[in-house]
Amino acid sequence: MPDAISIPSTSARPIPATFHVSTHPAVAHKLALLRDTSTEPKKFRELVREISWLLGYEALADARTKPISVETPLETTPGAELADRIGLIPILRAGLGMVDAMLELMPTAEVWHLGLFRDERTLRPVEYYNKLPDTATVDLCLILDPMLATGGSATAAIEVLKNWGARRIKLINLIAAPEGVHAVADAHPDVEMYCAALDRQLNEKGYILPGLGDAGDRQFGTSHR
Ligand code: PRP
Ligand code: URA
Repeated sequence: MPDAISIPSTSARPIPATFHVSTHPAVAHKLALLRDTSTEPKKFRELVREISWLLGYEALADARTKPISVETPLETTPGAELADRIGLIPILRAGLGMVDAMLELMPTAEVWHLGLFRDERTLRPVEYYNKLPDTATVDLCLILDPMLATGGSATAAIEVLKNWGARRIKLINLIAAPEGVHAVADAHPDVEMYCAALDRQLNEKGYILPGLGDAGDRQFGTSHR
């Protein structure tokens, strides 16, 4: 049997420079609604989508472009076209709700699903779905998962992508705990993290405080399971 959960205390450590929290007022406003326990799944899904779009916009600020020429109705002008092949990697289940927003931003992105769930006793990630092709097909991978708690799922997903051949990886979460931020930064100091809030800590069951509860259950209406 694996060891039962042990959550390291990280409160004294400085937050790494690879971690970015949005300061946009629209993100703060929507996040407060998302956290609210009275927010129903339909509204919750809308908010996940809206915040994801705003975070994706910030995370993609350094995506590479190449110059093109554009014919306006009046004259020819220089323009830009995305040069990076972008891969979206939603972590099932909860990351699914972030995909549509990111595809609105980057319509040509490829979507590669990864299935991971946390074992509720050990909090270690268990992989149950992975259909990545043999070699990497994209230049920049964006991992999509609303919650960064212990960091076990994110770290495992990054390892899968690096083994696949991915060179540039960014992690997009809605809410992060310090424990997860440090776990990712320690294991993968090259991975930039973007999120809407850095919360206080994990509770003894590995849930983020104050958090929003279980992001998958709240999106898909399965809180009673
Ligand atoms: C949640 C969340 C992350 C993971 C975060 O998924 O969506 O994937 O927990 O926790 P960690 O940082 O401690 O690994 P969950 O395992 O609840 O699966 P679900 O999305 O299917 O509900
Ligand atoms: N997964 C969630 O959905 N919520 C948490 O607070 C931690 C992990």
